[in-house]
Amino acid sequence: MNLPSLTYFPQKLVPPLCSALTNSTRSSGTADNIAIEGCNLKFSFTATRQAKVVPVLRDCSLRIPSGQFWMLLGPNGCGKSTLLKILAGLLNPTSGIVHVNEPKSFVFQNPDHQVVMPTVDADVAFGLGKFSLTNDEVRSRVSRALHAVGLSDYEKRSVQTLSGGQKQRVAIAGALAEACKVLLLDELTTFLDETDQVGVIKAVRNSLDTSAEVTALWVTHRLEELEYADGAIYMEDGKVVKYGDAASIRSFIEAKQSEYLSNAY
Ligand SMILES: Nc1ncnc2c1ncn2[C@@H]1O[C@H](COP(=O)(O)OP(=O)(O)OP(=O)(O)O)[C@@H](O)[C@H]1O
Ligand SMILES: [Mg+2]
Repeated sequence: MNLPSLTYFPQKLVPPLCSALTNSTRSSGTADNIAIEGCNLKFSFTATRQAKVVPVLRDCSLRIPSGQFWMLLGPNGCGKSTLLKILAGLLNPTSGIVHVNEPKSFVFQNPDHQVVMPTVDADVAFGLGKFSLTNDEVRSRVSRALHAVGLSDYEKRSVQTLSGGQKQRVAIAGALAEACKVLLLDELTTFLDETDQVGVIKAVRNSLDTSAEVTALWVTHRLEELEYADGAIYMEDGKVVKYGDAASIRSFIEAKQSEYLSNAY
């Protein structure tokens, strides 16, 4: 089992890895204060040309407390998106146990893949059709969700007129309107300019600060974004190698980068 080094929070304790999950068929939630949990997750695919099994995730264990904003970092190709898709239920692990509180929502990297309706309010309300809500309840949920992501003034705007970051925030508002408890966010800031990047990350932070029930896991390459996080996970080559508070993960990655640069020159 891969047991990453743990840094304990002074006030927000992260419980020991994998203690709450005992079997893969458990249908109730995780331990009370854990929103996202994966235990010894492995994932591989079969490369059809060579007919050989290629491992992507070799052994990933993680636990994220409810109500916290965590980030997932690591070099290109180390398996971050694969792990996020397993947590979202978009991929099945080859082995291991996963539990994520429901409802959960996966937000993709490309802002143009996020919005489907012509106006902001219609897009945020789009997923509410499956609930039996009155028009007033729909309006209230849409308005609260847009407020949480800082887009209250954009309710009637055409989505065509939004920036990439605003589209990402509309997608996040859609998840909040559906009362999603877990947001899984894959490199949302990649295609955005600096103002939009800050707008999206602040929208996520504010969503968590507004509702203690929302937990977010955010994949990024940008170390400066760690200032918004409660905790972080660092992966390499399909494994979780370290997790803990955001500041110590940042120092850990910076030390690795300096070591790499000093070896290179
Ligand atoms: N179904 C698949 N078929 C072929 N290759 C796959 C498949 N799934 C994942 N991979 C490979 O697994 C590795 C990990 O991919 P993944 O997208 O999870 O990495 P990542 O850490 O998100 O990378 P990036 O930082 O570039 O987004 C990559 O080499 C990818 O090409
Ligand atoms: Mg990726």
